[in-house]
Amino acid sequence: MNILIAYYSRTNVTATIINEVVKEFSDEINVDIEVIKDKKNRNGSINYLLSVIDAVRRKNTEIENIEKNPSDYDLLIIGTPVWAATMANPVLAYLNQIKDNVNDFATIITAGSSGFEQTLNDIESIIGQKVITTLNISTKDRQSGYSEKIANFVKKLE
Ligand SMILES: Cc1cc2nc3c(=O)[nH]c(=O)nc-3n(C[C@H](O)[C@H](O)[C@H](O)COP(=O)(O)O)c2cc1C
Repeated sequence: MNILIAYYSRTNVTATIINEVVKEFSDEINVDIEVIKDKKNRNGSINYLLSVIDAVRRKNTEIENIEKNPSDYDLLIIGTPVWAATMANPVLAYLNQIKDNVNDFATIITAGSSGFEQTLNDIESIIGQKVITTLNISTKDRQSGYSEKIANFVKKLE
């Protein structure tokens, strides 16, 4: 099985979870990674607020060129932080580019505490199909441990 994981991570939370998920897949599974890179600077508190506004407006943002085609893979895993109860704008820009090239897909969503369901609904409606499964990780999960959640997520996909 061939899996593509495409993710955006502003402060490395989603990236860290994804590294742990990759380690959990068995050796027979090929996993490639596409890091979604925003051209806009999102660092610092002013850019945080501007990003909230961008997210509420579902504003498109320019991202670096996409290198891998999801249609070459059996499964696409989309990783995103929640921004104002939806996906991060760079992930929105990514999905708008590749939405017609997706076979099956799953999601990895991280958030402080809320917005998982709305984020997943928004992703499903852009791609136009239902997710196989999702791994939702909140700050509380990160404090209390989430290795079981990761193992269950990977088991559903293998
Ligand atoms: C612009 C912005 C909006 C956010 N909105 C929410 C939100 O609506 N609900 C929530 O629980 N967390 C929210 N967060 C927190 C992030 O979802 C959370 O910290 C996430 O795990 C960060 O992942 P990252 O480090 O991969 O970017 C927001 C963060 C940012 C930067």
